[in-house]
Amino acid sequence: KAQGAVEGSRFSFPEVKAGVDADHHVAEGYDADVLLRWGDKIFADAPEFDPENQSEAAQERQFGYNNDFVGFIPLNGAHDHGLLVVNHEYTNDHLMFPGIVSVKDGKVTVAPATENQVNIEMAAHGGTVIEIRKVDGKWQTVLEGRQNRRITAKTEMEIAGPAAGHPRMQTKADPQGRSVLGTINNCAGGVTPWGTYVMAEENFHGYFIGELPSDHPEARNYARVGVPGASYDWGRFHDRFDISKEPNEPNRFGWIVEVDVNDPTSVPKKRTALGRFKHEGAESAVARDGRVVFYLGDDERFDYVYKFVTAGRFDPENRAANMDLLDEGTLYVARFDEDGSLVWLPLVQGEGPLTAENGFESQADVLIETRRAADLLEATPMDRPEDIQPNADTGRAYVMLTNNTKRDEANAANPRVENAFGHIIEIIEDGEDIAATKGRWEILVKCGDPSVAEVGATFSTATTEDGWFGMPDNCAIDAEGRLWVSTDGNSPSKTGRTDGLWAMDIEGAARGTSRLFYRVPVGAELCGPCLTEDMTTFFVAVQHPADEGEGWDEFGRPSYYEDLSTRWPDFDDAMPVRPSVVAITKQGGGKIG
Ligand code: FEO
Ligand code: CA
Ligand code: CA
Ligand code: CA
Repeated sequence: KAQGAVEGSRFSFPEVKAGVDADHHVAEGYDADVLLRWGDKIFADAPEFDPENQSEAAQERQFGYNNDFVGFIPLNGAHDHGLLVVNHEYTNDHLMFPGIVSVKDGKVTVAPATENQVNIEMAAHGGTVIEIRKVDGKWQTVLEGRQNRRITAKTEMEIAGPAAGHPRMQTKADPQGRSVLGTINNCAGGVTPWGTYVMAEENFHGYFIGELPSDHPEARNYARVGVPGASYDWGRFHDRFDISKEPNEPNRFGWIVEVDVNDPTSVPKKRTALGRFKHEGAESAVARDGRVVFYLGDDERFDYVYKFVTAGRFDPENRAANMDLLDEGTLYVARFDEDGSLVWLPLVQGEGPLTAENGFESQADVLIETRRAADLLEATPMDRPEDIQPNADTGRAYVMLTNNTKRDEANAANPRVENAFGHIIEIIEDGEDIAATKGRWEILVKCGDPSVAEVGATFSTATTEDGWFGMPDNCAIDAEGRLWVSTDGNSPSKTGRTDGLWAMDIEGAARGTSRLFYRVPVGAELCGPCLTEDMTTFFVAVQHPADEGEGWDEFGRPSYYEDLSTRWPDFDDAMPVRPSVVAITKQGGGKIG
């Protein structure tokens, strides 16, 4: 029995000590190697990263900022050769651009972005597709890879599905309502059973500035999603991000985007059938009858859990036949009843309250205003639904609910008021069938420090002081059905630890036991855990290292904690801190965990 092993647990790695410092840490016996950093070349002819002289043209050929979702698509079924697909969720000006931060009388100011900086930010958003190969046990990028690609906030995309061409999708630049430039705030995502890359557009509201007249037909729609969020300066240089100039542009964001990675010139498609909201991710699996089910979280306090079931069936022998499966199907929203039952409510125009009298003249209206449609169906308002991972073998799915400090009224599925540390719900679909429209649910764990009674955490008693966590965000189910959870929001002041990757038992006597496998440098969150099918590599995304906090680092930018600042992963005075993707392998090879 391994040291520290827990009776009935499916994990036996030696646990990492929870804590906070400038570096990342993985369980003893494993290597955590940085594979891709912000600014790394994606093409053989890309320019070298030069942090003092960045440009849009260079950034378009380099790895983007704030890596989030990570997926691995094997090439020819290989375990040691494939495409890595990575989302670049957002940018942090204060950590990217030299000289943008100033301090006067102790007050920190970040200067508004210049036009050049805005264009660099736009090129640092989106996603990356890059060929990678394992050589002598270590992963490396293949810069000559035929499928290598950068997708940015300016890449041409097609609008597909029921909302395509609708007048509410039309703009001056696109009077047909069928073509849009770029994708933004791609948080988590997924790889479909047919090997495409799906990117979830999350906090799209922050990119819009300007005002609509209060009687504008989109006023209610935009109020529900927080447009204009005005967090970025893009609208000062690009009219389409100013709603007073281009009032329909926000309707063209907040979708799931599908990318055919086989052809680097393919036009990505915004799949409107999957609804418009603050999409966290889009993990999928094939149901018993061959239909494909996508679980979708809407990450905002009091928003909802959704799933989409394709109308057509997956054909494993014919990739081309699957390429438009995402244009037809049923979008459902979840009602978590007090007695532990679960009902999936269909969002179909003309059914129940989704009528013309309520402003839903067509299915396009239902999809453009998915949240308002779900409100009328009386779905259950949740504590910020993040990643959701289905397991088609068991007919179960795991819902990460990150936190909700504004909740003042509990319900059974969100049982804590002022839920600072979040919880995980296990969905048990009827008949062990992920396409079912009814099921049950249970709380797998209420997160937070189990040694503080008021927190009310419910990790198993076998969970060590290093093993508990708060704020679950992303998750993965590995090839053996084991659950892994990564977090966003652990910090010295909140939990006395950084974010990281935890292994979580979900079965038998060990259910509810969590163990720390990997932790990130100060200021970062951990995204995109992706364990390869052969379970020998864990790809993880270290996002926004050194972000937040009071102190300053020697690069002239604010850092998270004065005495714990990090310049990870290079620890080089000439390099800023850089979000990076890390490949974790077992020393000498073998199965992780
Ligand atoms: Fe981008 Fe919901 O985390
Ligand atoms: Ca997330
Ligand atoms: Ca995931
Ligand atoms: Ca998050």
